[in-house]
Amino acid sequence: MLQALLDRVSPPIDSIPTPPRWPVFGHLPMLTRHGLLPLVEEARKKHGDFFRLVVGKHSLFVALHPDAVEQILLTDKDSYGKRDTYDSIRMLVGDGILTSEGERWRRERRIAQPSFNKGSVAALAGKMTRLTERTLEEWSRRYRVGDEFDVYSELLALAMEIIGETLFSLDLRARVGESAAAFTVALEQVSGRGNQMLQLPLHWPTPGNLRLRKALKTLDEVTFDIIARRRAAGALGDDLLAAYLNARDENGAPLDPRLVRDEIATFFLAGHETTAIALAWTFYLLGTHPAVWDKLIEEVDQLAGRVPTAEDVQSTLVYTRAVLQESLRLYPPTWSGGRDIVAETELAGHRVYPGDRVLYLPYLMHRDARFWDDPERFEPARFMPGQQQGRHKLAYIPFSAGPRMCIGNHFTLLEGTLVLAMIAQRFRLTLSARARIAQEFQITMRPRHGVLVRVEAKR
Ligand code: HEM
Repeated sequence: MLQALLDRVSPPIDSIPTPPRWPVFGHLPMLTRHGLLPLVEEARKKHGDFFRLVVGKHSLFVALHPDAVEQILLTDKDSYGKRDTYDSIRMLVGDGILTSEGERWRRERRIAQPSFNKGSVAALAGKMTRLTERTLEEWSRRYRVGDEFDVYSELLALAMEIIGETLFSLDLRARVGESAAAFTVALEQVSGRGNQMLQLPLHWPTPGNLRLRKALKTLDEVTFDIIARRRAAGALGDDLLAAYLNARDENGAPLDPRLVRDEIATFFLAGHETTAIALAWTFYLLGTHPAVWDKLIEEVDQLAGRVPTAEDVQSTLVYTRAVLQESLRLYPPTWSGGRDIVAETELAGHRVYPGDRVLYLPYLMHRDARFWDDPERFEPARFMPGQQQGRHKLAYIPFSAGPRMCIGNHFTLLEGTLVLAMIAQRFRLTLSARARIAQEFQITMRPRHGVLVRVEAKR
Protein backbone atom coordinates (compact mmCIF):
# COMPACT_ATOMS: atom_id res chain seq x y z
CA MET A 1 0.00 0.00 0.00
CA LEU A 2 2.75 2.42 1.09
CA GLN A 3 4.88 1.27 -1.88
CA ALA A 4 2.03 1.90 -4.31
CA LEU A 5 1.68 5.38 -2.89
CA LEU A 6 5.40 6.06 -3.18
CA ASP A 7 5.43 4.76 -6.75
CA ARG A 8 2.69 7.19 -7.64
CA VAL A 9 4.61 10.13 -6.14
CA SER A 10 7.94 9.10 -7.70
CA PRO A 11 7.95 6.50 -10.47
CA PRO A 12 9.83 3.18 -9.88
CA ILE A 13 13.20 2.23 -11.35
CA ASP A 14 11.76 0.54 -14.42
CA SER A 15 10.32 3.82 -15.62
CA ILE A 16 13.79 5.42 -15.68
CA PRO A 17 14.95 5.70 -19.30
CA THR A 18 17.59 3.07 -20.13
CA PRO A 19 19.51 2.92 -23.43
CA PRO A 20 19.51 -0.46 -25.25
CA ARG A 21 21.80 -2.98 -23.54
CA TRP A 22 23.15 -6.53 -23.68
CA PRO A 23 21.61 -9.37 -21.71
CA VAL A 24 23.58 -10.23 -18.55
CA PHE A 25 26.40 -7.70 -19.10
CA GLY A 26 24.12 -4.70 -19.59
CA HIS A 27 26.11 -1.67 -20.78
CA LEU A 28 29.51 -3.02 -19.76
CA PRO A 29 30.51 -4.08 -23.31
CA MET A 30 29.75 -0.56 -24.61
CA LEU A 31 31.61 0.98 -21.69
CA THR A 32 34.64 -1.19 -22.35
CA ARG A 33 34.55 -0.46 -26.07
CA HIS A 34 33.67 3.26 -26.23
CA GLY A 35 34.36 4.62 -22.75
CA LEU A 36 31.94 6.24 -20.34
CA LEU A 37 31.71 9.74 -21.76
CA PRO A 38 30.69 8.86 -25.35
CA LEU A 39 28.07 6.47 -23.97
CA VAL A 40 26.64 9.12 -21.65
CA GLU A 41 26.67 11.84 -24.31
CA GLU A 42 24.84 9.59 -26.74
CA ALA A 43 22.25 8.58 -24.13
CA ARG A 44 21.73 12.20 -23.10
CA LYS A 45 20.57 13.12 -26.63
CA LYS A 46 17.64 10.75 -26.30
CA HIS A 47 16.97 10.57 -22.56
CA GLY A 48 17.93 14.00 -21.20
CA ASP A 49 19.30 14.69 -17.73
CA PHE A 50 18.57 11.45 -15.92
CA PHE A 51 18.86 7.88 -17.15
CA ARG A 52 20.04 4.46 -16.16
CA LEU A 53 22.98 2.36 -17.26
CA VAL A 54 23.17 -1.26 -16.21
CA VAL A 55 26.51 -2.70 -15.17
CA GLY A 56 26.24 -6.37 -14.28
CA LYS A 57 23.49 -6.62 -11.73
CA HIS A 58 23.73 -2.95 -10.67
CA SER A 59 21.93 0.09 -12.00
CA LEU A 60 24.06 3.17 -12.43
CA PHE A 61 21.90 6.32 -12.47
CA VAL A 62 23.44 9.13 -14.45
CA ALA A 63 22.46 12.57 -13.11
CA LEU A 64 23.36 15.46 -15.41
CA HIS A 65 21.36 18.32 -13.89
CA PRO A 66 22.84 20.33 -10.99
CA ASP A 67 19.52 20.00 -9.10
CA ALA A 68 19.98 16.22 -8.94
CA VAL A 69 23.66 16.60 -8.02
CA GLU A 70 22.56 18.93 -5.22
CA GLN A 71 20.33 16.13 -3.91
CA ILE A 72 23.24 13.67 -3.98
CA LEU A 73 25.90 15.89 -2.42
CA LEU A 74 23.89 18.14 -0.15
CA THR A 75 20.20 17.80 0.59
CA ASP A 76 20.03 14.01 0.65
CA LYS A 77 23.69 13.25 1.31
CA ASP A 78 23.04 10.64 4.02
CA SER A 79 21.45 8.34 1.45
CA TYR A 80 24.76 8.08 -0.41
CA GLY A 81 28.10 6.52 0.51
CA LYS A 82 31.53 5.70 -0.87
CA ARG A 83 31.86 2.02 -0.08
CA ASP A 84 31.85 0.20 -3.43
CA THR A 85 32.26 3.13 -5.82
CA TYR A 86 35.62 3.98 -4.21
CA ASP A 87 37.00 0.43 -4.23
CA SER A 88 39.49 1.15 -6.98
CA ILE A 89 40.82 4.30 -5.27
CA ARG A 90 41.02 2.31 -2.03
CA MET A 91 43.52 0.00 -3.76
CA LEU A 92 45.79 3.03 -4.09
CA VAL A 93 45.38 4.94 -0.87
CA GLY A 94 43.67 2.54 1.53
CA ASP A 95 41.08 3.81 3.96
CA GLY A 96 42.17 7.40 4.44
CA ILE A 97 40.09 10.58 4.58
CA LEU A 98 39.07 10.40 0.89
CA THR A 99 37.58 6.93 1.04
CA SER A 100 36.45 6.41 4.64
CA GLU A 101 32.97 7.08 6.00
CA GLY A 102 30.98 7.83 9.13
CA GLU A 103 32.69 8.47 12.47
CA ARG A 104 36.06 7.38 11.16
CA TRP A 105 35.93 9.96 8.35
CA ARG A 106 34.73 12.69 10.75
CA ARG A 107 37.72 12.05 13.02
CA GLU A 108 40.15 12.08 10.08
CA ARG A 109 38.70 15.32 8.75
CA ARG A 110 38.80 16.93 12.24
CA ILE A 111 42.51 16.15 12.47
CA ALA A 112 43.32 17.51 9.00
CA GLN A 113 40.98 20.52 8.81
CA PRO A 114 43.07 23.03 10.83
CA SER A 115 45.92 22.62 8.31
CA PHE A 116 43.59 23.62 5.47
CA ASN A 117 41.76 26.62 6.82
CA LYS A 118 42.36 29.80 4.81
CA GLY A 119 44.80 31.24 7.37
CA SER A 120 46.90 28.08 7.68
CA VAL A 121 47.06 27.72 3.92
CA ALA A 122 48.07 31.36 3.42
CA ALA A 123 51.01 30.73 5.78
CA LEU A 124 52.31 28.11 3.31
CA ALA A 125 52.70 30.62 0.45
CA GLY A 126 56.38 31.22 1.23
CA LYS A 127 57.22 27.52 0.89
CA MET A 128 55.25 27.32 -2.35
CA THR A 129 57.04 30.29 -3.92
CA ARG A 130 60.49 29.17 -2.74
CA LEU A 131 60.10 25.79 -4.45
CA THR A 132 58.64 27.40 -7.56
CA GLU A 133 61.65 29.72 -7.74
CA ARG A 134 63.98 26.76 -7.51
CA THR A 135 62.17 25.06 -10.39
CA LEU A 136 62.13 28.22 -12.51
CA GLU A 137 65.83 28.77 -11.98
CA GLU A 138 66.36 25.28 -13.38
CA TRP A 139 64.10 26.07 -16.32
CA SER A 140 66.10 29.25 -16.99
CA ARG A 141 69.29 27.22 -17.07
CA ARG A 142 67.81 24.45 -19.20
CA TYR A 143 65.50 26.18 -21.69
CA ARG A 144 66.16 28.91 -24.26
CA VAL A 145 63.76 30.73 -26.57
CA GLY A 146 62.59 28.22 -29.19
CA ASP A 147 63.08 25.18 -26.92
CA GLU A 148 60.19 22.81 -26.30
CA PHE A 149 59.36 20.76 -23.23
CA ASP A 150 56.51 18.86 -21.58
CA VAL A 151 55.16 21.27 -19.01
CA TYR A 152 52.91 18.60 -17.44
CA SER A 153 55.76 16.41 -16.19
CA GLU A 154 57.58 19.49 -14.86
CA LEU A 155 54.45 20.59 -13.01
CA LEU A 156 53.90 17.11 -11.57
CA ALA A 157 57.37 17.20 -10.05
CA LEU A 158 56.88 20.72 -8.69
CA ALA A 159 53.45 19.92 -7.20
CA MET A 160 54.89 16.83 -5.53
CA GLU A 161 57.76 18.83 -4.03
CA ILE A 162 55.29 21.43 -2.77
CA ILE A 163 53.17 18.76 -1.04
CA GLY A 164 56.31 17.31 0.55
CA GLU A 165 57.44 20.65 2.00
CA THR A 166 54.06 22.07 2.99
CA LEU A 167 52.32 19.02 4.46
CA PHE A 168 55.22 16.79 5.55
CA SER A 169 58.11 19.31 5.96
CA LEU A 170 60.29 17.07 3.79
CA ASP A 171 62.29 17.59 0.63
CA LEU A 172 60.93 14.88 -1.68
CA ARG A 173 63.01 15.85 -4.69
CA ALA A 174 65.09 12.69 -4.61
CA ARG A 175 62.01 10.47 -4.86
CA VAL A 176 59.89 12.53 -7.27
CA GLY A 177 60.84 10.58 -10.41
CA GLU A 178 60.06 7.10 -9.10
CA SER A 179 56.91 8.26 -7.26
CA ALA A 180 55.50 10.03 -10.32
CA ALA A 181 56.16 6.97 -12.50
CA ALA A 182 54.57 4.64 -9.93
CA PHE A 183 51.51 6.89 -9.57
CA THR A 184 51.03 6.99 -13.33
CA VAL A 185 51.15 3.20 -13.64
CA ALA A 186 48.94 2.66 -10.58
CA LEU A 187 46.30 5.17 -11.72
CA GLU A 188 46.25 3.70 -15.22
CA GLN A 189 45.85 0.14 -13.99
CA VAL A 190 43.34 0.97 -11.29
CA SER A 191 41.21 3.12 -13.64
CA GLY A 192 41.38 0.37 -16.27
CA ARG A 193 40.05 -2.23 -13.85
CA GLY A 194 36.78 -0.32 -13.43
CA ASN A 195 35.95 -0.77 -17.13
CA GLN A 196 37.08 -4.34 -17.57
CA MET A 197 34.46 -6.97 -18.34
CA LEU A 198 36.27 -9.44 -16.18
CA GLN A 199 38.19 -8.16 -13.19
CA LEU A 200 40.88 -10.65 -12.35
CA PRO A 201 41.95 -10.73 -8.70
CA LEU A 202 45.06 -8.71 -7.93
CA HIS A 203 47.07 -11.79 -6.94
CA TRP A 204 46.71 -13.30 -10.45
CA PRO A 205 50.01 -12.72 -12.24
CA THR A 206 48.64 -10.95 -15.36
CA PRO A 207 51.02 -8.35 -16.89
CA GLY A 208 48.70 -5.53 -15.74
CA ASN A 209 48.46 -6.90 -12.20
CA LEU A 210 52.22 -7.33 -11.97
CA ARG A 211 52.75 -3.71 -13.04
CA LEU A 212 50.14 -2.55 -10.56
CA ARG A 213 51.61 -4.55 -7.70
CA LYS A 214 55.09 -3.21 -8.40
CA ALA A 215 53.80 0.38 -8.53
CA LEU A 216 51.82 -0.06 -5.29
CA LYS A 217 54.92 -1.47 -3.60
CA THR A 218 56.97 1.58 -4.64
CA LEU A 219 54.26 3.93 -3.37
CA ASP A 220 54.06 2.06 -0.09
CA GLU A 221 57.81 2.33 0.35
CA VAL A 222 57.82 6.04 -0.41
CA THR A 223 54.95 6.63 2.03
CA PHE A 224 56.51 4.64 4.87
CA ASP A 225 59.80 6.40 4.18
CA ILE A 226 58.09 9.80 4.56
CA ILE A 227 56.70 8.75 7.95
CA ALA A 228 59.96 7.15 9.12
CA ARG A 229 62.05 10.21 8.17
CA ARG A 230 59.76 12.48 10.13
CA ARG A 231 59.70 10.22 13.18
CA ALA A 232 63.50 10.03 13.05
CA ALA A 233 63.71 13.83 12.99
CA GLY A 234 62.37 13.91 16.58
CA ALA A 235 60.30 17.08 17.21
CA LEU A 236 57.20 16.78 15.11
CA GLY A 237 56.38 20.42 14.34
CA ASP A 238 52.93 21.57 13.32
CA ASP A 239 52.26 20.40 9.78
CA LEU A 240 49.64 17.90 8.59
CA LEU A 241 51.85 14.85 9.13
CA ALA A 242 52.50 15.99 12.71
CA ALA A 243 48.74 16.37 13.23
CA TYR A 244 48.23 12.71 12.30
CA LEU A 245 51.26 11.46 14.25
CA ASN A 246 50.24 13.45 17.34
CA ALA A 247 46.56 12.50 17.20
CA ARG A 248 45.24 10.36 20.04
CA ASP A 249 42.00 8.43 20.23
CA GLU A 250 39.58 8.61 23.15
CA ASN A 251 41.79 6.14 25.11
CA GLY A 252 44.92 8.21 24.54
CA ALA A 253 46.37 5.76 21.99
CA PRO A 254 48.06 7.02 18.79
CA LEU A 255 46.53 6.25 15.39
CA ASP A 256 47.25 2.83 13.93
CA PRO A 257 50.41 3.11 11.75
CA ARG A 258 48.45 1.64 8.82
CA LEU A 259 45.93 4.46 9.09
CA VAL A 260 48.66 7.09 9.20
CA ARG A 261 50.09 5.45 6.08
CA ASP A 262 46.68 5.66 4.37
CA GLU A 263 46.32 9.36 5.24
CA ILE A 264 49.78 10.24 3.99
CA ALA A 265 49.29 8.25 0.77
CA THR A 266 45.94 10.02 0.27
CA PHE A 267 47.36 13.51 0.68
CA PHE A 268 50.43 12.66 -1.33
CA LEU A 269 48.26 11.58 -4.28
CA ALA A 270 45.24 13.92 -3.95
CA GLY A 271 47.50 16.86 -3.20
CA HIS A 272 49.75 16.85 -6.23
CA GLU A 273 48.25 15.08 -9.22
CA THR A 274 45.08 17.15 -9.58
CA THR A 275 46.89 20.47 -9.15
CA ALA A 276 49.52 19.55 -11.74
CA ILE A 277 46.81 18.46 -14.17
CA ALA A 278 44.88 21.70 -13.63
CA LEU A 279 47.99 23.78 -14.33
CA ALA A 280 48.94 21.68 -17.36
CA TRP A 281 45.51 22.25 -18.94
CA THR A 282 45.83 25.93 -18.07
CA PHE A 283 49.05 26.12 -20.09
CA TYR A 284 47.36 24.34 -22.96
CA LEU A 285 44.58 26.96 -22.91
CA LEU A 286 46.97 29.89 -22.47
CA GLY A 287 49.19 28.53 -25.22
CA THR A 288 46.27 28.68 -27.62
CA HIS A 289 44.78 32.00 -26.38
CA PRO A 290 47.45 34.71 -26.77
CA ALA A 291 45.08 37.52 -25.76
CA VAL A 292 44.54 35.89 -22.37
CA TRP A 293 48.32 35.49 -21.94
CA ASP A 294 48.72 39.23 -22.68
CA LYS A 295 46.17 40.13 -20.04
CA LEU A 296 47.71 37.79 -17.53
CA ILE A 297 51.19 39.24 -18.12
CA GLU A 298 49.80 42.76 -17.77
CA GLU A 299 48.44 41.83 -14.33
CA VAL A 300 51.56 39.97 -13.24
CA ASP A 301 53.70 42.96 -14.29
CA GLN A 302 52.03 44.96 -11.51
CA LEU A 303 54.19 42.95 -9.11
CA ALA A 304 57.22 44.67 -10.68
CA GLY A 305 59.23 41.45 -10.55
CA ARG A 306 58.79 40.69 -6.84
CA VAL A 307 57.76 37.28 -5.57
CA PRO A 308 53.95 37.15 -5.13
CA THR A 309 52.36 36.56 -1.72
CA ALA A 310 49.09 35.06 -0.45
CA GLU A 311 47.82 38.64 -0.09
CA ASP A 312 48.54 39.29 -3.81
CA VAL A 313 46.39 36.29 -4.75
CA GLN A 314 43.42 38.01 -3.06
CA SER A 315 44.12 41.52 -4.38
CA THR A 316 46.52 41.95 -7.33
CA LEU A 317 46.25 38.56 -9.04
CA VAL A 318 42.48 38.29 -9.48
CA TYR A 319 42.65 37.74 -13.24
CA THR A 320 45.43 35.14 -12.85
CA ARG A 321 43.23 33.31 -10.36
CA ALA A 322 40.25 33.61 -12.72
CA VAL A 323 42.33 32.00 -15.49
CA LEU A 324 42.88 29.00 -13.25
CA GLN A 325 39.21 28.82 -12.24
CA GLU A 326 38.08 28.99 -15.87
CA SER A 327 40.55 26.28 -16.77
CA LEU A 328 39.07 24.14 -13.95
CA ARG A 329 35.68 24.69 -15.59
CA LEU A 330 36.69 23.44 -19.03
CA TYR A 331 39.14 20.81 -17.84
CA PRO A 332 38.13 19.70 -14.34
CA PRO A 333 40.77 17.16 -13.27
CA THR A 334 38.09 15.32 -11.29
CA TRP A 335 35.78 15.09 -14.26
CA SER A 336 33.34 12.56 -12.77
CA GLY A 337 31.98 11.65 -9.37
CA GLY A 338 30.04 8.73 -8.00
CA ARG A 339 28.37 7.36 -4.92
CA ASP A 340 26.69 4.14 -3.72
CA ILE A 341 23.04 4.45 -2.77
CA VAL A 342 22.91 3.32 0.87
CA ALA A 343 19.31 4.21 1.76
CA GLU A 344 16.15 4.26 -0.33
CA THR A 345 15.50 7.78 -1.51
CA GLU A 346 14.10 10.01 -4.22
CA LEU A 347 16.40 11.28 -6.95
CA ALA A 348 15.39 13.46 -9.90
CA GLY A 349 11.78 12.48 -9.33
CA HIS A 350 12.39 8.71 -9.14
CA ARG A 351 12.76 6.28 -6.25
CA VAL A 352 16.16 4.65 -6.06
CA TYR A 353 17.35 1.85 -3.78
CA PRO A 354 20.45 0.64 -1.90
CA GLY A 355 22.76 -1.57 -3.94
CA ASP A 356 22.64 0.72 -6.97
CA ARG A 357 24.92 3.65 -7.75
CA VAL A 358 24.85 7.21 -9.03
CA LEU A 359 27.20 9.06 -11.35
CA TYR A 360 27.50 12.79 -12.01
CA LEU A 361 29.83 14.54 -14.41
CA PRO A 362 31.25 17.98 -13.59
CA TYR A 363 32.88 17.85 -17.03
CA LEU A 364 29.48 17.96 -18.74
CA MET A 365 27.80 20.31 -16.25
CA HIS A 366 30.66 22.78 -16.69
CA ARG A 367 29.97 22.82 -20.43
CA ASP A 368 26.18 22.90 -20.24
CA ALA A 369 24.75 25.77 -22.32
CA ARG A 370 21.83 26.14 -19.89
CA PHE A 371 24.24 27.43 -17.25
CA TRP A 372 27.07 28.98 -19.29
CA ASP A 373 27.04 31.41 -22.20
CA ASP A 374 29.05 30.09 -25.10
CA PRO A 375 30.24 27.22 -22.87
CA GLU A 376 33.13 25.97 -25.02
CA ARG A 377 34.81 29.38 -25.02
CA PHE A 378 37.78 29.95 -22.68
CA GLU A 379 36.78 33.19 -20.95
CA PRO A 380 38.39 33.87 -17.55
CA ALA A 381 36.23 37.01 -17.10
CA ARG A 382 33.43 34.66 -15.97
CA PHE A 383 35.30 34.33 -12.67
CA MET A 384 36.12 37.98 -12.06
CA PRO A 385 34.56 39.42 -8.88
CA GLY A 386 30.79 39.84 -9.15
CA GLN A 387 30.45 37.73 -12.30
CA GLN A 388 29.23 34.59 -10.57
CA GLN A 389 25.96 35.96 -9.24
CA GLY A 390 22.84 34.14 -10.37
CA ARG A 391 24.67 30.98 -11.40
CA HIS A 392 23.29 27.67 -10.13
CA LYS A 393 25.48 26.89 -7.12
CA LEU A 394 26.11 23.33 -8.30
CA ALA A 395 26.83 24.23 -11.95
CA TYR A 396 30.53 24.64 -11.11
CA ILE A 397 31.95 21.93 -8.85
CA PRO A 398 35.61 21.21 -9.67
CA PHE A 399 36.12 20.55 -5.95
CA SER A 400 32.73 18.86 -5.43
CA ALA A 401 30.32 20.25 -2.79
CA GLY A 402 28.91 19.47 0.63
CA PRO A 403 30.74 17.91 3.58
CA ARG A 404 32.97 15.71 1.35
CA MET A 405 34.11 18.68 -0.69
CA CYS A 406 37.84 18.86 -1.40
CA ILE A 407 39.73 19.88 1.72
CA GLY A 408 42.53 21.27 -0.48
CA ASN A 409 40.53 23.81 -2.53
CA HIS A 410 42.06 26.96 -0.93
CA PHE A 411 45.46 25.29 -1.05
CA THR A 412 45.16 24.58 -4.78
CA LEU A 413 43.87 28.00 -5.73
CA LEU A 414 46.69 29.63 -3.79
CA GLU A 415 49.38 27.29 -5.14
CA GLY A 416 48.07 27.38 -8.71
CA THR A 417 47.78 31.17 -8.81
CA LEU A 418 51.26 31.68 -7.36
CA VAL A 419 52.86 29.16 -9.73
CA LEU A 420 51.04 30.59 -12.74
CA ALA A 421 52.02 34.16 -11.86
CA MET A 422 55.65 33.24 -11.26
CA ILE A 423 55.94 31.35 -14.54
CA ALA A 424 54.33 34.29 -16.38
CA GLN A 425 56.86 36.65 -14.75
CA ARG A 426 59.70 34.79 -16.44
CA PHE A 427 58.40 32.86 -19.45
CA ARG A 428 55.92 33.05 -22.25
CA LEU A 429 54.87 29.56 -23.34
CA THR A 430 52.88 28.69 -26.46
CA LEU A 431 51.64 25.30 -27.54
CA SER A 432 54.23 23.50 -29.65
CA ALA A 433 53.21 22.75 -33.24
CA ARG A 434 54.16 19.15 -32.41
CA ALA A 435 51.96 18.91 -29.32
CA ARG A 436 49.53 15.97 -29.30
CA ILE A 437 46.67 17.01 -27.06
CA ALA A 438 44.25 14.35 -25.88
CA GLN A 439 42.24 13.87 -22.74
CA GLU A 440 42.72 10.65 -20.81
CA PHE A 441 39.50 10.05 -18.92
CA GLN A 442 40.68 7.92 -16.04
CA ILE A 443 40.06 8.55 -12.33
CA THR A 444 41.40 12.00 -13.18
CA MET A 445 41.36 13.67 -16.60
CA ARG A 446 44.99 13.85 -17.57
CA PRO A 447 46.63 15.12 -20.77
CA ARG A 448 47.45 11.72 -22.32
CA HIS A 449 50.65 12.83 -24.05
CA GLY A 450 51.48 15.68 -21.68
CA VAL A 451 51.41 19.30 -22.90
CA LEU A 452 54.36 20.15 -25.12
CA VAL A 453 55.05 23.89 -24.96
CA ARG A 454 57.48 26.18 -26.73
CA VAL A 455 59.42 28.92 -24.99
CA GLU A 456 58.83 32.30 -26.69
CA ALA A 457 60.57 35.61 -26.21
CA LYS A 458 58.83 37.34 -23.30
CA ARG A 459 58.00 40.50 -25.30
C1 HEM B 1 42.95 21.16 -8.86
C2 HEM B 1 43.15 20.52 -7.71
C3 HEM B 1 42.15 19.65 -7.04
C4 HEM B 1 40.96 19.16 -7.48
C5 HEM B 1 40.30 19.37 -8.84
C6 HEM B 1 40.39 18.37 -6.41
C7 HEM B 1 39.17 17.75 -6.46
C8 HEM B 1 38.59 17.07 -5.41
C9 HEM B 1 37.26 16.54 -5.42
C10 HEM B 1 36.26 16.64 -6.57
C11 HEM B 1 37.07 15.93 -4.23
C12 HEM B 1 35.80 15.21 -3.76
C13 HEM B 1 35.85 13.77 -4.12
C14 HEM B 1 34.60 13.10 -3.68
O1 HEM B 1 33.51 13.45 -4.11
O2 HEM B 1 34.70 12.21 -2.88
C15 HEM B 1 38.27 16.06 -3.47
C16 HEM B 1 38.47 15.56 -2.21
C17 HEM B 1 39.64 15.66 -1.52
N1 HEM B 1 40.76 16.38 -1.89
FE1 HEM B 1 40.99 17.45 -3.56
N2 HEM B 1 41.27 18.38 -5.36
C18 HEM B 1 42.34 19.15 -5.68
C19 HEM B 1 43.43 19.43 -4.88
C20 HEM B 1 43.65 18.92 -3.64
C21 HEM B 1 44.78 19.23 -2.80
C22 HEM B 1 45.88 20.23 -3.15
C23 HEM B 1 44.64 18.47 -1.68
C24 HEM B 1 45.53 18.38 -0.48
C25 HEM B 1 46.58 19.12 -0.28
C26 HEM B 1 43.43 17.68 -1.82
C27 HEM B 1 42.97 16.78 -0.90
C28 HEM B 1 41.71 16.22 -0.95
C29 HEM B 1 41.20 15.36 0.11
C30 HEM B 1 41.94 14.90 1.34
C31 HEM B 1 39.89 15.01 -0.26
C32 HEM B 1 38.91 14.16 0.54
C33 HEM B 1 38.08 15.07 1.42
C34 HEM B 1 37.04 14.33 2.25
O3 HEM B 1 36.42 13.39 1.77
O4 HEM B 1 36.86 14.76 3.39
N3 HEM B 1 42.84 18.00 -3.01
N4 HEM B 1 39.19 16.77 -4.20
